[in-house]
Amino acid sequence: MTGTPSPGQGQGQGQGQGQGQGQGQVPTPVPLACPALHERGFAAAAQRLTAPRGPALRPVTLGGGLRAWAATDPAVARGVLTDPRLTNDIGELDGPVQGFPDRRYPEDFFAHAPQLLSASGERHRGLRRIVAPYFTAAATERTGARLRDAMAGIIGSLAGRDRIDLVTDLALPLAGATAGEILGIVPERRDAAVTAALAAGGAVPGTEEARSAHRVFAQTVLHIIGAARRSPAPTAATALLHARQSGRIGNAELTGMLGMLLIGTVDSLSTVVPAGALMALRHPEVRHGLGDGHGGGPAYSTAVTEEILRLNPPFQHTGWRFTRDDCVLAGVPLPRGAVVVTSVLAANLDPTTWPDPLRADGRRRTAAGHLSFGHGPHYCLGAALGRRLVHEALTGLFRRFPRLSLAVPLGELTWHGTCLRRLDRLPADTHA
Ligand code: HEM
Repeated sequence: MTGTPSPGQGQGQGQGQGQGQGQGQVPTPVPLACPALHERGFAAAAQRLTAPRGPALRPVTLGGGLRAWAATDPAVARGVLTDPRLTNDIGELDGPVQGFPDRRYPEDFFAHAPQLLSASGERHRGLRRIVAPYFTAAATERTGARLRDAMAGIIGSLAGRDRIDLVTDLALPLAGATAGEILGIVPERRDAAVTAALAAGGAVPGTEEARSAHRVFAQTVLHIIGAARRSPAPTAATALLHARQSGRIGNAELTGMLGMLLIGTVDSLSTVVPAGALMALRHPEVRHGLGDGHGGGPAYSTAVTEEILRLNPPFQHTGWRFTRDDCVLAGVPLPRGAVVVTSVLAANLDPTTWPDPLRADGRRRTAAGHLSFGHGPHYCLGAALGRRLVHEALTGLFRRFPRLSLAVPLGELTWHGTCLRRLDRLPADTHA
């Protein structure tokens, strides 16, 4: 999961392959413009990132000119996400040490705010222990049951409409309801919380727009803390507040963790639900499979959702990792302080793991699974809940509107961002 975009972030596709991984050779970084979720983007990803002769760890340029190394092969990606020679904590590094010429480190919330994805080792485990009880199987079952009712309400409220927007009418209210459940945000403040999270994540750093978005975001986090003080029900927010009150964490960790949970929930669901819906709108076999049209039972429909998640990872590359010292990773010598990410989409399109990788196939059985929820100590805490919500949102949508169709030509849909490829609207006709 990565954070706010950087200046100059574009929409373009990557060009060519990363070259040169030998010792002493200065590699030519290629842009890691995350492929769009339409076919041209997928094809570009498949061709560029899973090219048989390409290195499994390659130099890339991220939005804003940040130079990094990206793991594109699933095994190398898993290795990166569990390698003790890498840290998520930028604070462990001091002074400029590595060779890339431009910016060395990301300057965003996910690198600098003290929260799970910027922590490693015991500090990370300590933070994770505070909120983990709210994401166990039993807790997920309880949260999921409440959200099933919320989802029924959201989809039910669309009845009688000829045209709906699957971003604003479905994904964003679902993201708001989920954040509300996890963080104890009262219903009347949920829309504003979603808007604040999207604005904070989408603004270009250093601009007045970004400063204003971050002020509003900070206010939102303060409201969550205020609600947690009064809340009779335990939530991840009340657990963090108690940890603050007992001195286990400081103010910065309290606000960093709440902000991270809010952004993580909103960014993921607002991205993957529309992307999955679009896939089902465009590919009858996907829609059919979601509705159990292949007669494989609920297991088949769940497997189709898993394919949707594989092909539409909301976070197309994971958050930042930094080399603690000079080291050799996947055969590539890296200096101390190098920025390493795993390209989730590229790993998920690996043709040796998933033959014909661009096809959503509910019959696939792969031992290791995809990387859309990450891997290792930072594996997504909300994975079980996220899976369940995406599945129920898509199956519920197409059950309620079996004749749903895309209301605009594909070319009119606008994707925003690079790491997080998000549609701002997805109009569909209900034919109800
Ligand atoms: C379909 C939905 C979701 C997807 C695909 C997703 C994906 C991810 C990924 C890839 C990571 C790992 C990032 C990294 O290693 O750098 C992550 C971490 C995390 N996610 Fe999710 N996420 C989803 C939904 C959620 C939800 C609903 C929550 C609930 C609050 C959540 C909470 C978290 C947390 C707390 C972490 C950090 C774990 C740690 O660092 O220990 N996610 N997520």
